[in-house]
Amino acid sequence: MSIGIIGAGAIGQLLFAQLNTGTSNAHKIHLISRSPQSFIQPMSFTGLDNNTQHGSVEILGQDAAEIAQLDLLIVCVKAYQVVETITPVIDRLKPNCQIMLLHNGMGPHRNVAELLQHYPDMGLSLATTSQGALKNAPWNVSHTGNGKTLIGHYCGQPLAEHFKSFLLEQIPNATWHANITTALWQKLVINCAINPLTAFYQCKNGQLAEACYQTEILTIIEECITVAKLDGIDLTNVDMVTMVDEVIHFTANNTSSMLQDINHQRPTEIAYISGYVVARAQYHGIQTPANLTCLQRIQALEH
Ligand code: PAF
Repeated sequence: MSIGIIGAGAIGQLLFAQLNTGTSNAHKIHLISRSPQSFIQPMSFTGLDNNTQHGSVEILGQDAAEIAQLDLLIVCVKAYQVVETITPVIDRLKPNCQIMLLHNGMGPHRNVAELLQHYPDMGLSLATTSQGALKNAPWNVSHTGNGKTLIGHYCGQPLAEHFKSFLLEQIPNATWHANITTALWQKLVINCAINPLTAFYQCKNGQLAEACYQTEILTIIEECITVAKLDGIDLTNVDMVTMVDEVIHFTANNTSSMLQDINHQRPTEIAYISGYVVARAQYHGIQTPANLTCLQRIQALEH
């Protein structure tokens, strides 16, 4: 079976390393970049134990013939790149290829689900991870924090059992979720509470455990829970505060993806994180001032 990971960012490279660890040759794992041609690339990956593995890897380009052989395509690009990444390759995928999205924030799954209506033998799964990963250089990634990875079926044909068990075995702390939309909302709340604050205050995740940030974090969480409820998703305050605290603790040394984006002057996923909550709140006719402040602060930094 052939698995492609498209998007060679920090999380894409982390996943590539994890899916390649200790495996038999049952699955061939490809890393796919967004350039047209394939190339051989020296890479290094440092695990949580500080052991570094070096190697040369063939990175497939968008035109590579291997794309037509993939059984599972894991899309690890930023939320705002999901549709533009899938659109040019979808016609070359096997008719029954499975697609899995793994990114922060919410929104693009609705567009991909619409696209898949024309491909009835394909299926869409969604995943979200709280693992920390840092790109020290373009092909040099460190695993900077443990965290949970949640995966579940969203629409179309279900993911085959052997893929499910492979992913759950290879990715540390990965679990399958029957209701992935609730899991995505939980992760959204975590990202709303951590990402904009770390980017705005220029701090590592662990610093958010300090007392001075607690009022802001609790207000963001409460607003998210209210909007989720209006969207038909029941989240409890106790659970969400615990989950946010746990991620702050387990990824204390991590530079959040949004802080990395701001520091490298890249666009952020704020429109799909705080922006998604603000948009859903507006749809339901309510205000979410703390999340709106986060959205506006990060948009100002982006500009
Ligand atoms: O976006 C991130 O950085 C991650 O989702 C998380 C969980 C906040 C850890 O840094």
